[in-house]
Parts: sequence; structure tokens; C-alpha cells
Amino acid sequence: MNSHKIAVVNGDGIGHEIVPMGVEVLQAAANKFGFKLETTEYAYGAGYYLEHGDFMAENGLEDLKNFDGILFGAVGLPAVDDTLPFKLFTNKVRTAFKQYVNYRPVKLLDGIDSPLRTKTQKDIDFVVIRENNEGEFVQNGRQMYPDEAYGFATDTSLFTRPGIERIAHYAFKLAQKRRKKVTNVTKSNTMINTLAYWDRVIAEVAEQYPDVQYGKMYIDAATANFVLRPELFDVVLTTNMLGDILSDLGGAIMGSLGFGPSGNINPEKDFPSMFEPIHGSAPDIAGKGIANPIGQIWSGAIMLEHIGETTAADAIVKAINQTTAQGILTGDAGGKNSTTEVARAIIENLK
Ligand code: NAI
Ligand code: MG
Repeated sequence: MNSHKIAVVNGDGIGHEIVPMGVEVLQAAANKFGFKLETTEYAYGAGYYLEHGDFMAENGLEDLKNFDGILFGAVGLPAVDDTLPFKLFTNKVRTAFKQYVNYRPVKLLDGIDSPLRTKTQKDIDFVVIRENNEGEFVQNGRQMYPDEAYGFATDTSLFTRPGIERIAHYAFKLAQKRRKKVTNVTKSNTMINTLAYWDRVIAEVAEQYPDVQYGKMYIDAATANFVLRPELFDVVLTTNMLGDILSDLGGAIMGSLGFGPSGNINPEKDFPSMFEPIHGSAPDIAGKGIANPIGQIWSGAIMLEHIGETTAADAIVKAINQTTAQGILTGDAGGKNSTTEVARAIIENLK
């Protein structure tokens, strides 16, 4: 029997509600499809920081390295400086484990009406590939004299040729398995150094994939098209910050931020990949049992696909769609069900 070692990090806020549901669904899938998931929990996050002064243990990364996958909720608490969660947890793991692909499907689920009233499932079915290790989020900068009249601050974007090439190859290979179209979402008309270079390297890679239709769209136009013409998109290739922003819009057109799944992927499998919903720790609704668990559960399915349990992964996605088609939904998606009710319905449908 195949066995996989999974690290489980609830994080903070609704992470404590949705991640355990994700684990239950994964274990149900493991039972049904005859493999084993050995899970180990880590209490990392902003809560851990309040107790221990850091977001993870000193040997945290060394520990996590030994797993086949990491199932993660989200980090951040109102009581903790919000510049810390990304720096000390999310981005730390993403970069240390070379998870340079942030894979974010945007697909309208069965039975869900998109807020885009004329759009249906055939229109909303694409993937955002967000560059996940470089770009605007390298946190290369500083603040000086912030309390003085002459205070100033800088942040420098960083793009490397190998960094652009590897994410571009990933996007074009993915497109070959889909509808064979890559849209580079950029802003090279104003970011004339970094993003012009980004465009140039992507165009070079595009030439190696003559079977894939390649085009470029500026981020401002792309945000409008996410709403007006989402059917234009198959694989959206974009930078770290632009992809962060666009993928919440992707979640919104799916009907709720709570539906959006993601994988932080190291395609070479030199390190474990990490799977988390696209949203944050939602402190405004934490502890009420009303958080939508679907983005989390779907992220678990993407993890199974990554570790080779594709049949089980497909079955989870199917069970999610059966559940949404039955109208078993949390409040954010227009339903009346609790987090647990939605997850248990998915497990029933899976069986
Ligand atoms: P958020 O994504 O946590 O919440 C935005 C809105 O969406 C809130 O009204 C929330 O209630 C709702 N929402 C989010 N997920 C939901 C779900 N599963 N079901 C129902 N409603 C849901 O973003 P926000 O409020 O900007 O950030 C809250 C905290 O999360 C901050 O500390 C932030 O830094 C952190 N964060 C962490 C991320 C990560 O760990 N990867 C990613 C994004 C934010
Ligand atoms: Mg985000």
C-alpha cells in the first residue's frame, strides 16, 4: 500500500476549522482508494508567534522538508503585526522549498451562479499561474526615518532569467494539456525594465511551443476581462503580486473567495510542495463554524494529484461538485450550511 507523509499546518483563524475538514476528506479518499496518509500537525503561525516569538520552530524548515506534502490553512491574527505572516511563514516556505509555481484554478463549480450573471461553466474555466519566488515580493528594500518629515521607503522588484524561464515553461506545458493558450498578464508599458524583460524572456520561451497560442495583456485590461470576458483565458501567466491580486478576483467570479484552491509547487519535487486556499485566515468569521471549507478541500485534492494519487484527487473534485450542485453551501456562497456540514456532505458523496 502506498503511504504518504503529510505535514498539516492549520495556521490561524479559520485555518483551525477548515484544515481539519480537509484532512477528514483526504483520509476518506485514502480509505476508499487504498493508500495511506500519515499526518503530523504543526501549530505554526501567528498564534505560535505570540507564544514563542517566531512563526515556526527553529528547525521548522528542516522538519517540514521530510514530508511529501504540506497541507496549510492561512496565517495572520489581528493581534500580530501583519507584515510578519508572509515574511516569517508563507514566503519563507515558498522560497526555501523553491515552490516557484503558484497554481490557482478558477473554475465555476456545479450549481453555482457566478456573480457575472451572463457567464456559465463554459466561460469560467482557467488557471492562474503566479510566479511565486521573485518579482515584487522579494522584500528587497527598506524604510528610513519613517517618523521624520523626510522619511522614505523603497521596495525593489527582482526578476531573473532562470526564474522567468522556469515559470514560463511550466505555464506552456500546462497549456499543452488544456486548451493550448497562454496569456501573459503584465504591465511592461510602465514597468519598462523588470516587466519588459519578463515579456521578452516569456516570448522567447513561447517560440519553443508553437502549438500553444501566446498573447500578452496588460493587468488593467486583464482585470476588466476577468469580469467581462473570462472565456478569453486558459492559462494566465503572471507575476507574484499581480497574480496575488488577480486570483482573489478569480475567487470572486467563482462566487466566493472561499472556493479558491492553490498549490505552491516545486515541480522538480526536490522539496515538498504546499497546498492552501487562496484566501487568508478570515479573523472576522473565525470561530463561528461558518467558513467555506471548499477551497481548502480542493487544495487537498491538488496535493493528491501532485503526489500521484490522481484517481482520488479527481474523485474529491467530483464530490465537491456534487455537493455544490445539491445546494449544500456556506453563507458566503449563498447557503445556510456550516463548515462541518459541507465537508461531511463531500465525504458522503465521495463514498
Ligand atoms: P481574508 O482572505 O482572510 O478575508 C477576506 C474576506 O473574505 C473576509 O471577509 C473573510 O471573512 C472572507 N473569507 C475568506 N475566506 C473565507 C472562507 N473560507 N469562507 C467564507 N468567507 C471567507 O483576507 P484579509 O481579511 O485581508 O486577511 C486576514 C488575514 O489573513 C491577515 O492577517 C492576512 O495577512 C492573512 N492572509 C494570509 C494569507 C496566507 O496565509 N496565505 C493569504 C491572505 C491573507
Ligand atoms: Mg492573496
